[in-house]
Amino acid sequence: MHKVQLGNSNYQASAVALGVMRMNALSVPEAATVLDTIKDVGINYIDSADIYGAGDSERVLGQALKRAGANRNDFFIQSKVGIVQSKGDSPLGAAPYGGRYDFSKRHILEAVDGVLERLQIDYLDALLLHRPDPLMEIDEVAAAFDELLASGKVRHFGVSNFNPRQVDLLQSVVNQKLLINQLQFGVMHTGPITFGMHTNMTDDGSINRDGGVIEYSRLHKMTIQTWSPFQYGQIEGTFINNPAFPEVNRVLDVAAKKHGVSKNAIATAWILRHPAHMQVIIGTMNPDHIRDSAAGADVDLTRQEWYDIYYAAGNDMP
Ligand SMILES: NC(=O)c1ccc[n+]([C@@H]2O[C@H](COP(=O)([O-])OP(=O)(O)OC[C@H]3O[C@@H](n4cnc5c(N)ncnc54)[C@H](OP(=O)(O)O)[C@@H]3O)[C@@H](O)[C@H]2O)c1
Repeated sequence: MHKVQLGNSNYQASAVALGVMRMNALSVPEAATVLDTIKDVGINYIDSADIYGAGDSERVLGQALKRAGANRNDFFIQSKVGIVQSKGDSPLGAAPYGGRYDFSKRHILEAVDGVLERLQIDYLDALLLHRPDPLMEIDEVAAAFDELLASGKVRHFGVSNFNPRQVDLLQSVVNQKLLINQLQFGVMHTGPITFGMHTNMTDDGSINRDGGVIEYSRLHKMTIQTWSPFQYGQIEGTFINNPAFPEVNRVLDVAAKKHGVSKNAIATAWILRHPAHMQVIIGTMNPDHIRDSAAGADVDLTRQEWYDIYYAAGNDMP
């Protein structure tokens, strides 16, 4: 498994990481098998969030780390906070969307304590702010990060789903370098590169929804972690082996046969072929799918193969 340098730090992260959003569905022995599998394939990085399974994913992970006999430094363990799903006494009751983002110092500190308790560990290797809070008071975040670093509870910091101006705003007061931005990007989610190819045009492809976040991250040495690499839409389902996406599956299959790997591996390799040195966060809890997907870290796609997959996903070349 090849490694990527995490931001401007010295840490060498596996190019493929495991996300545990779905781990709450597993028993502890099943989750321990997942940990054995990722160790076996060279994945040294785990991504979590306090809201996954309403905390149950972290509870299962914490117990599974013990059951698998993992040492604390076997894995770089990252979690995300800043989303509160409960609506409390909101008058909206059971409306489909609810809760709030909360980047207050108090919430961040309490949320990290909850993460450490559920994971049964003393510190997080990295903490990300999950989604930008329009009410973000940057000095509160800075104070929270200082306290978390000083207490030894968090070692590195980053963000998730932030645009470049939001990163600039936060970085202007935060004392620690923001190393990571976690974003949706993959074969069926190409907006962050499509708008660049359509610069100066008037079609929908030219809409800059992400603020040039890939170019920004490369300039500022932030590692992009790509979430939901095998999904279409916003977590609507996987496109792999999905009959609704015949062309992309056909072209992935051609490359898979040529390189002697699975379609998952090619979809992983497609992200890693981008020169931004991204990290791919896979979410399957199926050990075979983990092995298949991780194998993509060692596949080098040609430039034409990369473009062919981009076109097969429904994109054009202006
Ligand atoms: N920062 C954010 O806002 C954010 C948002 C969402 C997710 N995330 C992170 O990203 C991680 C990954 O998210 P994800 O789970 O949506 O990503 P994913 O790896 O793209 O999708 C996993 C899903 O695809 C299915 N799948 C994979 N390979 C398959 C195959 N060959 N055939 C059939 N189904 C297949 C899996 O089913 P099986 O289990 O059956 O393999 C699972 O349902 C999460 O765990 C989380 O850490 C972050």
